[in-house]
Amino acid sequence: MNRSSPISLVVLISGSGTNLQAIIDEIAKGNLNARIAAVISNEPEAYGLKRAAQAGIPYEVINHRDFPTRQAFDQQLTASIESCQPDLVILAGFMRILTDQLVNHFEHRMLNIHPSLLPDYKGLHTHQRVLDDQQPRHGCSVHFVTPKLDDGPVIVQAVIDIEADDNANSLQQRVQQQEYIIYPMAIRMIAEGRVTISADQVHIDNKIRQQPLQVKAVSTK
Ligand code: GRF
Repeated sequence: MNRSSPISLVVLISGSGTNLQAIIDEIAKGNLNARIAAVISNEPEAYGLKRAAQAGIPYEVINHRDFPTRQAFDQQLTASIESCQPDLVILAGFMRILTDQLVNHFEHRMLNIHPSLLPDYKGLHTHQRVLDDQQPRHGCSVHFVTPKLDDGPVIVQAVIDIEADDNANSLQQRVQQQEYIIYPMAIRMIAEGRVTISADQVHIDNKIRQQPLQVKAVSTK
């Protein structure tokens, strides 16, 4: 995917949409050659919808409660995404488990950001679990989505050192600041044709990555 035209994105959200905002801002600053074709939320009240409206991005609510089954919801979601023909589908705080069918439909075209250094700490409450285990380091990962939750090949991670006075709240804030850097970065690398994936292995600049690319955060404390 090496292009002069902007890479086209559909962003899925459920909540505040600060990662969406970071992507909008990087596009506006000219740092990311991308176009958000649509924002889709399963939550009618998601604040991220206001962010989309403010940025003049088309948005849609597909409320999962209106569908009898997960499959029916995912079929509508797939149809709405496909109507935009995006190059990439960006999960940005989208709080629904997706069916294998949907995930396989968008194989190698769907990204997620997860607040841990995957493969460690999949699932929820990552900040508290990292503290409970007295880990020295924490961070976030951008990965391709595969049917197994939080398990897909990682493109890039940001690493922070845990400080003695950190709690789950401070960690969440510090990790999120890194998310706003590495999510646009991963999209940019794909847009520039620098990232490819085969046999569930990420290649960056034509080299297979045995370990994910890592960015070390500069301490902001
Ligand atoms: C992010 O912190 C991300 O790690 C997780 O969901 C959160 C979404 O936040 N997957 P926001 O909606 O982008 O503000």
